[in-house]
Amino acid sequence: METIILDDERSIARLAAGAFVDLLARKPDAVLGLATGSSPLGVYDELAARHEDGDISFARARAFTLDEYVGLPADHPETYRNVINRDFTSRVDIDPDAVRGPDGLAEVIPASCAEYEAAIAAAGGVDLQVLGIGAVGHIGFNEPGSSFASRTRIKTLTHQTRVDNARFFDGDVDAVPSHCLTQGLGTIMDARHVVLIATGRHKAEAVHHLVEGPVSAMWPGTILQHHPHATVLLDSAAASRLQLADYFREAYRGKPSWQGL
Ligand code: GLP
Repeated sequence: METIILDDERSIARLAAGAFVDLLARKPDAVLGLATGSSPLGVYDELAARHEDGDISFARARAFTLDEYVGLPADHPETYRNVINRDFTSRVDIDPDAVRGPDGLAEVIPASCAEYEAAIAAAGGVDLQVLGIGAVGHIGFNEPGSSFASRTRIKTLTHQTRVDNARFFDGDVDAVPSHCLTQGLGTIMDARHVVLIATGRHKAEAVHHLVEGPVSAMWPGTILQHHPHATVLLDSAAASRLQLADYFREAYRGKPSWQGL
């Protein structure tokens, strides 16, 4: 796991966007793993700007999203399908049919989740997965206690996650769905490169466990310590509880410029 601490969100966004630009330059039909939430928004802004400048095309790319609420009507503005479309995919030239997410309105949920897994596999697997992390340490919606071997499935959201996400539902916790479909930790671990972004002091505890804690299902993101190519991008506030912060800063300062993420 490479941990990089930068001064501001713009630098984080630029660095992560660079990984997408490099990937699509060498593999125009790459498979992208997209996340909702505020953490990747700067990356999406940066990618939209670079697309506008003609630096990057998503015309042949495919994309899979991490998770989806169960039961929200298709036209609800907070379905993750609509969120990812608004925040990112409608702003670039990716084919809308090439963007898939778990189906939160599926009649037979286990079959639909298995189909989603099969679709990711048929596309050749995810090349680059961008991730945020919840204050409770979840990645995707893999709440504490999730199996490290889990695949796409239904999960019950923790009360804390529903409180955290109530801001998207006019502050009404009861309006936040109680269930979601999420790629499993095993699914996320199959992505060839994972870039996790965390900013702000409210993420410091989750980041402390993610980077320096023991690997534990109580802090699901810690499974990324076992990923062969995981990059963690932090601002100083999110890194404020790291014992090794000075070491990570020094290592990044000394990193050869030819070495990408
Ligand atoms: C959400 C999402 C995650 C996201 C996380 C953090 O509930 N399911 O994919 O990474 O919580 O969100 P944010 O980036 O807004 O802090």
